[in-house]
Amino acid sequence: MHLPSWLSEAVFYEIYPQSFYDANGDGIGDFAGMTEKLDDLSALGINAIWVNPCFESPFMDAGYDITDYCRIAPRYGTNEDAIRFFNEAHRRGMRVLLDLVPGHTSDRHPWFLESKKPEKNAYTNRYIWTGNAFDYPEGFRLMSGLSDRDGNYMVNFFSSQPALNYGFENRQYDWQLPPDHPDCRATLEEMKHVMRFWLDAGCDGFRVDMAYSLVKNDPLFTGTKRLWNEVREMFEREYPDAVLLSEWSCAEQAIDAGFHMDFYLHFNSVGYNALFQTAPFDYVDKAEAAPCFFHRDGKGDVTRFLNEFLPKYRYIRGRGYMCLPTGNHDMVRYSHLRSEEELKAIAAFILLFPTVPFLYYGDEIGMRYQIGLTSKEGGYYRTGSRTPMQWSDGKNKGFSAADQTYLPVDSAPDAPTIAQQRTRAGSLWHTVRDAVALRKSDPAFGADGDFRVAYAKEGAYPFVFRRGRYVISVNPSERSERIALDGRFKTVFSTAGRTTHANGVLDAGGIDLTVFEDLAPAAGGDTN
Ligand code: GLC
Ligand code: CA
Repeated sequence: MHLPSWLSEAVFYEIYPQSFYDANGDGIGDFAGMTEKLDDLSALGINAIWVNPCFESPFMDAGYDITDYCRIAPRYGTNEDAIRFFNEAHRRGMRVLLDLVPGHTSDRHPWFLESKKPEKNAYTNRYIWTGNAFDYPEGFRLMSGLSDRDGNYMVNFFSSQPALNYGFENRQYDWQLPPDHPDCRATLEEMKHVMRFWLDAGCDGFRVDMAYSLVKNDPLFTGTKRLWNEVREMFEREYPDAVLLSEWSCAEQAIDAGFHMDFYLHFNSVGYNALFQTAPFDYVDKAEAAPCFFHRDGKGDVTRFLNEFLPKYRYIRGRGYMCLPTGNHDMVRYSHLRSEEELKAIAAFILLFPTVPFLYYGDEIGMRYQIGLTSKEGGYYRTGSRTPMQWSDGKNKGFSAADQTYLPVDSAPDAPTIAQQRTRAGSLWHTVRDAVALRKSDPAFGADGDFRVAYAKEGAYPFVFRRGRYVISVNPSERSERIALDGRFKTVFSTAGRTTHANGVLDAGGIDLTVFEDLAPAAGGDTN
């Protein structure tokens, strides 16, 4: 199987379209606005973009509840506006992934309206229904009493998101169809049609929502892997340069399933939280985060991350990548409870690790998590990470000319903006830009480049690793630490400039990430 070569060098940026830039002054972001801001992303060095769902939807879950997969939501513009965005991105050397939501639709999707009808029709089995309205088997999230059709339907996430039917790998009841049933096959064919529609329009692939969840009662993911491998074959044949990125957070399973990349996230694994602890529910209101490696208190343990990450990395190496994000639309922003110096170390780490980096919009300036906002469009705690982008000191921080914006703009007098940070030397924006440039300056830093752990001890700081002839020391703790490290080093990048090396001793200053070039590197590549 073919791994598109652009991925190793890719630096992704996630755009939440509602909140990025409002070009027509109606208070909500749109495609024309995203197109207008492409040069700002170029200035940061971004060469790939993921756009959150932008399709027609009643927005009960921010657009993860679709009513027409092939139509851009009118509030964001038209299909032509999206195509213009793809073209303008391509002209600047950027790729664009759309968000594919294959597992469920809105309960207002025309397919579902047909499926609810008591009369049998082409959509009767497009969704998962029990045999009758009093059929309540354990272990399924069922909605009942909402249709004339005699049955209960399964939902995936919110109650407004009925599950599409790709069949059951293990079947206990008559109403559970096998994945190769013609009606389940029809669901998959429909989703392939949607993918071809947008790939033909010019997008470069998809981030796939809840990718692990399509075939039900599939504890070993046998059916789900079969399904995605079939989609991958379609990509290999028809769209060899396009990519599939899963929201799965289990790279072994996802890459075996045929995905090119999988997100390494705050669920399904412990490593992300061992590094950053962004798990939301239990700590947004607390003064202190749970212990994690990237915290100035120095109470984290990088080996908790590595023990999980390294086996995954070795297992998928050469076949696919893990994606490491600064955050996303489901997480509390990484700026929460952290200083600018801490954010610099995190961003640089993410940009120099042997994974594919993703910057969540606004994280390049440390936009803040907004505590206590009223939920918007199914956001709940996530709403605080979804507020309008802060471009300048103008009206609505330059996001929109409207009097009322989609969500309130951060009104703090010291709220960070792109304009301020671009003019302030030493800002987070500058560090991110420099780290992006460093990553792109040498394939050694790319996702395919060599990677070796040079120093990692349980409960200790710093963490030191090598990328080819470069040595990266990261010490997020505020204590400085000394360790022995052989080599002759020259500093090429540093977030705080506090780390030095002389006579076989690395002096890792507090809250600093420094990159050295090893002037006398020992032979030998990747040993992980
Ligand atoms: C994914 C999305 C999330 C959405 C959910 C249901 O986790 O990232 O925002 O609510 O799926 O589609
Ligand atoms: Ca608008």
